[in-house]
Parts: sequence; structure tokens; C-alpha cells
Amino acid sequence: MGCDTLKAYDIPERVRTYDIDMDVMHPLRHKMIEIVLDILPFNQEAALKVMDLGAGTGIFSARVLERFPNSNVTAIDGAAAMIDIAADRLGPMADRIHWVIADFRQLPAETLAADSYDLVISSYALHHLSADEKLALLKQVVGALKPGGWFLNADIAIAEDESIEKHLQQLRIEGVMSRATAGDERFVSAESTRTYLTEMELAENAQPQTAATDLEIIREAGLPAAEIFWKELREVVAGGPKLTSS
Ligand SMILES: C[S@@+](CC[C@H](N)C(=O)[O-])C[C@H]1O[C@@H](n2cnc3c(N)ncnc32)[C@H](O)[C@@H]1O
Repeated sequence: MGCDTLKAYDIPERVRTYDIDMDVMHPLRHKMIEIVLDILPFNQEAALKVMDLGAGTGIFSARVLERFPNSNVTAIDGAAAMIDIAADRLGPMADRIHWVIADFRQLPAETLAADSYDLVISSYALHHLSADEKLALLKQVVGALKPGGWFLNADIAIAEDESIEKHLQQLRIEGVMSRATAGDERFVSAESTRTYLTEMELAENAQPQTAATDLEIIREAGLPAAEIFWKELREVVAGGPKLTSS
């Protein structure tokens, strides 16, 4: 892939409505973030060192900082326009955030110091990578996790079976149309909604894998205990701990 994904997210006027659009297109995002927070075995007072891969407008980083008031987050994203919105959202907690504008495929070495993170999180970002790119990134992530540290990813997945995928896409379109604001021309009909989503996915170079493939990638990257903790239609929360013996 080229830098198409980052170009698509680095347009201020396009990403201005990002969070509103996400609530129309991915209302489960909030639930998935809370599921990740509930899975984590850490004491709420722990001084966690956290990495957020594809922090975007900062929704996940903000919830981690709230849940773990002594934590710090390294928020990584390749699109400065998204980070600008995140900086606004996180204003009062800004001193606990270290922003890094970088491509996942070329992360600066200083963000990947060995055994340095308690937690690496990501939401709706890693499906922009190919399977090989995801594996390469996650191997680096595992190296940067402390033994006992966790990686958890909230993202979309495709179905194994083509007819089921078609059905899920139909449900997706119906859901988007039912949540869209009246008069939003993108979502006035099933046809316009399908066209909008297809063009958006092309522009962002979306390339989701099946949940099983993603789990395999996470395990192969060095987290053999990884699990799918939650799945609903096209959305998945998966990951696991870095075993102390690995
Ligand atoms: C759909 S947004 C998700 C943002 C946020 N995590 C959320 O849940 O709303 C995907 C984010 O991943 C970032 N991203 C995608 N591919 C990337 C890459 N190769 N390197 C760095 N950031 C990337 C985009 O810039 C964008 O901010």
C-alpha cells in the first residue's frame, strides 16, 4: 500500500466530523473500548505506560487516562489532522500524553524500546495494514511490551464465508441508514450508502482480515495466549498478554 490511508485521514475538513460519523458507522466503538478496559488485569492506581496505535481523535487514549489516572500514553498516528483533534479532546490530560506522528510501517526506534510498555491498545486502525504489515508491526509491539504486559485490539473483521459477508454488509447498511441524521445525503438510500462506504474504504485502503486470521497474526507475533474476547457481527476485540516466559 502507498500512503493513501494517511492522506485520507490527514485532511482537516474531512476529519472534522470524524467522531460524529464514527457514531453512525461504528456505534459499538464505545462498548469495545469499555470491554478492553474491563479485560485488563491492572490495578487502577498502577502507573501504566501505554501505547495507542492509530490514536486518531484520541477517544481510546482518553478513556485509558481516565480509568488509570497514573498512566501515561504514547499516542501514535500518521495523520497530523487527527492528532490535532485529539489534542483538543485531551486538553486537560495533555501532560500525560506523548504524541508521535509516524507511519506504523516505520515507527521510530525510540517508541519501541524493548520491554517498556505495560499496555498497547488500538481501535479501528490496524485493518488499514496488510496481513504481512500487521504481523511485522505486532512483532515490534511484542518486543516493546514488558513481560506480563497486554496488547488489545478493537477492530473490524470480514466473515470467512462470502454469503455471510454479503449478509453482514446488508445489516451494516441498514444500521448506518437507521442511525444517520435525516437529510444526510450520503445515507439516503441503500445504494448511496453502499457507494459512500465503498469509496471511503478504497480511499482509506481498508483491508480487514477475518477474525481467525487476525488472531493467528497476533499469536504468531509472539502472544500465543491471545484470544478473541468479544465479537459482534463485524467488530472484534482480540489480544492477550506477553507471557513472562516468552
Ligand atoms: C479509523 S481511525 C481510528 C482512530 C481511533 N483509534 C478511533 O478508534 O476512533 C484510523 C486511524 O489510524 C491511523 N492510521 C491508519 N494507518 C496508519 C499507518 N500506516 N500509520 C499510522 N497511522 C495510521 C489513521 O491516520 C487514523 O487516525
